[in-house]
Parts: sequence; structure tokens; C-alpha cells
Amino acid sequence: MRLLVVGAAGRTGRLVVEQAAARGHEVTALARREVPGAHATVVGDATDPAVLGEAVPGRDAVLMAVGSSAIVRALVPVMTAAGVRRLVMTSSRSVVATRPKLLLDLVWWRFRGPYADLARAEGMLEGGPLDWSVVRATMLADGPARGRVHTDFEADATGGDWRLTRADYAATLLDVAEDSAMVRRAVGVGGPRG
Ligand SMILES: NC(=O)c1ccc[n+]([C@@H]2O[C@H](COP(=O)([O-])OP(=O)(O)OC[C@H]3O[C@@H](n4cnc5c(N)ncnc54)[C@H](OP(=O)(O)O)[C@@H]3O)[C@@H](O)[C@H]2O)c1
Repeated sequence: MRLLVVGAAGRTGRLVVEQAAARGHEVTALARREVPGAHATVVGDATDPAVLGEAVPGRDAVLMAVGSSAIVRALVPVMTAAGVRRLVMTSSRSVVATRPKLLLDLVWWRFRGPYADLARAEGMLEGGPLDWSVVRATMLADGPARGRVHTDFEADATGGDWRLTRADYAATLLDVAEDSAMVRRAVGVGGPRG
């Protein structure tokens, strides 16, 4: 797959680039600085239509390793014009979760701005023309991949652990990008239980 990774210099983004290249994908990185391991890097801001106009045409899919309504707003028209339909975006499980209520109230109080923006970005995708998938993570941590994750399609996690390594998240994002059955679906992902 010819894959564009947006936010490729981030902690998850760098792992997506690395793992996508290892899976044999042709990886273009979009970041505000050069990204090691990508076949090419387009350096610039992902909300800039000129930067996106350079990065998007010719790709089979775009993977946003950063959740952002400003990026979605800029990206959707550029992808539509270029005939690139597949988009996978990171998001947070907290956007839709209702339990445990006290913990969620606390994290929403602390991260209200970012969560509200992720909800906005998800809404823009749901109402838009692209073949989108949203991958809502629990709490991300650095560290080695465990090689297993818990996934489900519910608002509240049906199992798994709240701690998810970015390495396992990157692998899940790629699994979703490669799976056409995931089009127009939002999946929750957490660490494995035990
Ligand atoms: N962190 C968590 O615990 C958590 C939990 C649940 C879900 N998530 C989801 O996972 C995503 C990735 O998390 P992370 O912790 O790996 O993120 P991160 O390390 O903060 O990386 C985000 C990257 O996005 C880049 N970026 C932001 N706006 C950009 C723009 N306009 N143009 C180009 N690049 C831009 C940043 O660039 P610069 O380096 O240049 O600033 C940064 O490299 C989050 O965005 C969120 O959707 C995170």
C-alpha cells in the first residue's frame, strides 16, 4: 500500500512509519521535521492545503497518527479532489466512554479541549465522503509491544487493560488500514488482559 502517515514525527507516528515499512508498505511521512525510516518525508504543517496537495495525491490510504479536527478539515477536500478515499484516524476511548464515571469526569475535566476536538474530528468524518475508520485508544504508554490488544465496537470497553503501548497501537492502526471491513467503523482498542 502507498501510505501517507500524518503526524509521523509523534511517538505513535514514528512507530507507525517503522512498522508500515517493515510490512512492505511504501511510506510517505508528513511531519514538521524529517522522519527516519520513511521512504519520503513531506515537511510542513498538516493543516496547510499546499502541503497536503504535495503529500496526498497518489496514495492508497492516509493514516492520521494524530487526532485533530483542523487536520481533518484541511485533509478531506484534498483527499476528495485527489480521489484518495481511505483514512484512518487516532482518537481516544474517553470521547465516547461512560464508565468508570468518576475517572472519566476527572480526565474530561483535565483534557476537555483535546477530547472535544477529537469528538469534532470524528463527527466531521462520519458526515463526510471518505472511507474512514476511527481507532479509539485507551491510555497510551511507551514500552515494548505486547503483541496482543483488546478491541471492541462498544462505547465502554468490554475487556482488556487501560494501558496500551504505542507499539501495539501502531500495529492496530495498520491492521485497520489494511482491512476494508473496517470502513466507516469506530473501534476501541486497549491493552490485553493479563
Ligand atoms: N497520548 C495518549 O495517551 C492518547 C490516548 C488516547 C488516544 N490518543 C490518540 O493518539 C494520538 C497520538 O498520540 P501520541 O501520544 O503518540 O501523540 P504525540 O507524540 O503528541 O504526537 C503527535 C504528533 O502530531 C504532530 N502534529 C500535530 N499537529 C500537527 C500538524 N498540524 N501538522 C503536522 N504534525 C502535527 C506533532 O508534531 P510536532 O512534534 O511537530 O509537535 C506530533 O509529532 C493522539 O493524537 C490521539 O488522537 C492519545
